[in-house]
Amino acid sequence: AVPPLVDRFGRRVSYLRLSVTDKCDLRCTYCMPKGFSGFAEPESWLRFDEIQRVVAAFARMGTARLRLTGGEPLLRKNLPELVRQLAPLPGLQDISLSTNATQLHKHARQLYAAGVRRINVSLDSLDKACMEKITGRDSLAHIMAGLQAGKQAGFHPIKLNMVLMRGVNDHEVMRMAEFCFKEGFILRLIEAMPMGETGRNSQYMEVQALREQLVDKFGLVPLAEELGGGPARYWGLPDGSGSIGFISPISQHFCASCNRVRLSVDGTLYMCLGQDEKLALRPHLRAGIDDAGLDALIRQAIELKPERHEFATQPHKIIRFMSQTGG
Ligand code: GTP
Ligand code: 5AD
Ligand code: SF4
Repeated sequence: AVPPLVDRFGRRVSYLRLSVTDKCDLRCTYCMPKGFSGFAEPESWLRFDEIQRVVAAFARMGTARLRLTGGEPLLRKNLPELVRQLAPLPGLQDISLSTNATQLHKHARQLYAAGVRRINVSLDSLDKACMEKITGRDSLAHIMAGLQAGKQAGFHPIKLNMVLMRGVNDHEVMRMAEFCFKEGFILRLIEAMPMGETGRNSQYMEVQALREQLVDKFGLVPLAEELGGGPARYWGLPDGSGSIGFISPISQHFCASCNRVRLSVDGTLYMCLGQDEKLALRPHLRAGIDDAGLDALIRQAIELKPERHEFATQPHKIIRFMSQTGG
């Protein structure tokens, strides 16, 4: 058997986050800088056959979870076809999608049929004007339609990612929690990370105080189980009918249990959201590297994986923003 991918700190890499495009139809303030236009050129995008080779290599080396991200992944043409190519790879057990859901009503059924089983949807507010302010577009109605389509297509669970912004959407947390309990979605409250010119502002809020308010109001109890493969810590309603995840990269980082790396649309492996270590796979793929060589290259990259991010102490260090790295 092929030995698993383990980094210098003993962490097993079991989760690959695959960015299929760096483009997006929204302009969330914490994700893409104002007026940005430096998107990757199409000839630098990994083709589906190239993506398949990389994912197959990770799967061979023990990666069971794959998440499709972007930019907005649904903007990549023929995404369901890509999923159909990846789903049968031996070792892959969990294919998920992080989306803004604006186009989900068009693609939900096909994606489910292709093998995506669970989705995480970015939704920061239930107010039309507030969403327009955050996303730069009149997006709420499309997203709501996308969420219903997602439910009907059978995705489960559906998690809603809410990035907290003081004075922008923090007053909506209770309402959002009630909405999610009613609809059967799992709300996740997220601390913004300073990435590039984004996510670095006075609106930062930590999740702990809000968690206490939610515990008081709904009697939430901490859950031991992990609901997914990620960094969220979950609390649930006492009767088990709903749960909320808290993602605290800044106030209580979770790097010691990090299990993931990211592949950007141009075929660069990024070892950490908050650090620069990376390895470009595309030149090697296009030079005809064989499978053994590819495995060795990926192991070499994993050796570079840093211990943790330094968002709190060095907020200006990372100049890539989220839509470039892959969410
Ligand atoms: P599952 O647990 O598998 O459902 O997914 P996830 O929570 O890992 O994925 P998602 O794309 O929904 O990410 C939610 C948020 O978690 C992102 O907005 C990030 O803020 C945060 N996050 C995800 N991965 C990392 C990571 O590797 N490092 C840090 N610091 N934050 C992360
Ligand atoms: N900090 C924290 N989360 C972010 N996201 C995008 N940019 C940031 C940031 N700077 C989140 C989005 C999306 C997820 C994949 O990443 O809310 O749901
Ligand atoms: Fe892993 Fe880096 Fe994220 Fe920490 S910040 S959890 S080390 S990717």
